[in-house]
Amino acid sequence: MTQALTFLGIESSCDDTAAAVVRHVPGQPAEILASIVEGQTALHAAFGGVVPEIAARAHAERLDHCVEAALAGANLRLSDLDGIAVTAGPGLIGGVLSGVMLAKGLSAASGLPMVGVNHLAGHALTPRLTDAVSFPYLLLLVSGGHCQFLIAGNVDDFERLGGTIDDAPGEAFDKTAKLLGLPQPGGPAVQAEAAQGDARRFAFPRPLLDRPGCDMSFSGLKTALLRARDAVIAEKGGITVQDRRDLCAGFQAAVADVLAEKSRRALERYLALNPPTPLLAVAGGVAANTLIRSRLTALCDRMGVRFLAPPLALCTDNAAMIAWAGIERFRLGARDDATLAARPRWPLDQTAAPMIGSGKKGAKA
Ligand code: KG4
Ligand code: ZN
Repeated sequence: MTQALTFLGIESSCDDTAAAVVRHVPGQPAEILASIVEGQTALHAAFGGVVPEIAARAHAERLDHCVEAALAGANLRLSDLDGIAVTAGPGLIGGVLSGVMLAKGLSAASGLPMVGVNHLAGHALTPRLTDAVSFPYLLLLVSGGHCQFLIAGNVDDFERLGGTIDDAPGEAFDKTAKLLGLPQPGGPAVQAEAAQGDARRFAFPRPLLDRPGCDMSFSGLKTALLRARDAVIAEKGGITVQDRRDLCAGFQAAVADVLAEKSRRALERYLALNPPTPLLAVAGGVAANTLIRSRLTALCDRMGVRFLAPPLALCTDNAAMIAWAGIERFRLGARDDATLAARPRWPLDQTAAPMIGSGKKGAKA
């Protein structure tokens, strides 16, 4: 199918309520006509994590406003669209249900076709939305709830090479910040402290580097940080500003080392496929980390691979990626109806063994 398509995208799988309108004319770059993202950080701040019930209620209250704002921003009515794409999982079930029910209602009322989208496929297909890249490419998804390497072979063909067996890196950054009295989200705060710290002062482990493959583990790093912090407190009766900076620098260097080495291994496996235009793309909030980015850039330079980091607003949760994935799936003939189910768990690579504990929050991606 080669006609121009304009899709509404709806995203509500974790703590961002989002709606977007994307248009694609074959042969031309895709256009994001509007993208509305309402974060819920303030609602969950007092609880130290996303509270599913609060998230679900906020999605139910705000989704239709976001859809209206996206349509208004695109200067379009529902009847101008060609279809509706909605995140049908994986994620917090209450939020996913809100989105799926709204999409079903809009589809029934307007007669527009509806396409259910896997949230992870939204992230994984973003490099095609922003840069029209060709398959196959390697994707590293690093966020507050997910961490995995995927070879994107086609719109609905993803091979998972490995991922975290416990915490996601963003979660580790957030917990580190909490342990050191820094604000949430922890990533930017830890990065700012680390910039003035000595990464060599504390010896943090590089978990799972001694084992072959692309699996990773980050929960031990948080324990190591807690021990190092407590040892300083036991010695001096507290931690100084410089201690904190050094702890952050040591922690960040350990995460960057692990991600760089595991990315090297994932790239080796990917390059064995002889891709005509080799590419490593990143997605997820942790991709904003400047040290991690520079390590990945250097690695790609060495290995003759293009490195692509889409604009941060499209790396983190948004609905433009859902609209885009909907367009791509629609072109392959995907259609859903009133039986579309909301799925809390939905691995992209159905053949890969499920990871115990992987993405413990089970909701973020
Ligand atoms: O993809 P994202 O916006 O949301 C979900 O995980 O849903 O990623 C958020 C995560 C948080 O854990 C945050 O601490 C982390 O990304 N993050 C960073 C940086 N900026 C955000 N981690 C490390 N360095 C950063 N500069
Ligand atoms: Zn996500």
